[in-house]
Amino acid sequence: MRIGLIGYGKMGKAIEEIALERGHSVVVKATSKTKDWDKNLSEVDVAIEFTSPSSAVDNISRLLQHNIPVVTGTTGWYDQYSEIETRVHETEGSFLAATNFSIGVNLFFAINQFVAQLMNAHTDYDVSLEEVHHTQKADAPSGTAITLGEQIIAHTDRKHDWKCIENTTIDFEKKPENLLIEAVRKEGVPGTHTVRYTSDIDTIELTHTAHNRKGFALGAVLAAEFIKNKKGIFTMRDVLNLK
Ligand SMILES: NC(=O)c1ccc[n+]([C@@H]2O[C@H](COP(=O)([O-])OP(=O)(O)OC[C@H]3O[C@@H](n4cnc5c(N)ncnc54)[C@H](OP(=O)(O)O)[C@@H]3O)[C@@H](O)[C@H]2O)c1
Repeated sequence: MRIGLIGYGKMGKAIEEIALERGHSVVVKATSKTKDWDKNLSEVDVAIEFTSPSSAVDNISRLLQHNIPVVTGTTGWYDQYSEIETRVHETEGSFLAATNFSIGVNLFFAINQFVAQLMNAHTDYDVSLEEVHHTQKADAPSGTAITLGEQIIAHTDRKHDWKCIENTTIDFEKKPENLLIEAVRKEGVPGTHTVRYTSDIDTIELTHTAHNRKGFALGAVLAAEFIKNKKGIFTMRDVLNLK
């Protein structure tokens, strides 16, 4: 498979390594300085887009216009997701977005849903989330934390919305119906997510810790292999066959 990498930063480079190991070739490598990368797409079978929240929607739209299947891992643009959905339908394209490509995190999502359903009846427990990432991360909370939070809200009658606190603010108004997501930034952390259920008596914690970026990169390449000859909108649940 011939891959176009839109975004050649920490993730783009990790994806290239895994793609080459799996016998693929990388025929386009674009950064913010490569303005006309869409003139070189004729050789590309699938594009993998990991850039920045402010450029993702434009990049994805350009790729769809050129009929290139798109896998994107960029986070922080999901308020415009429905726009992209419309463009996929208009172009009869192929699209897969994931806030987290790691297989372990996608299993963690399934576990999180199960535990949220179980804990719904146990109203003595309050639930909160914590995410820790490296200091260069542009968005907060992480896309993964938002996915975890939305899963919890969908299965927990006493939670209606999520609120993010960054590095713990003191004047935050704590309302029981809000699910608190604490976003912490620390040098060198690829991504740690904790779901915490606390009562007066005890605490139950579920934690996923990424040791490096390999898991995200492998998942993105598996997703690209999956959508290559398909049409429509897919998720990592389809790739990993998690029903
Ligand atoms: N879904 C997941 O599993 C997952 C995992 C990790 C990270 N992420 C997300 O993926 C994104 C990228 O992360 P990263 O750690 O790789 O960031 P990074 O190291 O900052 O790299 C970003 C890359 O995108 C390029 N870029 C920015 N704007 C562009 C544009 N308009 N056109 C083409 N390229 C452009 C940058 O170019 P310059 O070098 O010229 O600036 C750089 O090469 C972030 O949103 C992050 O949160 C997702």
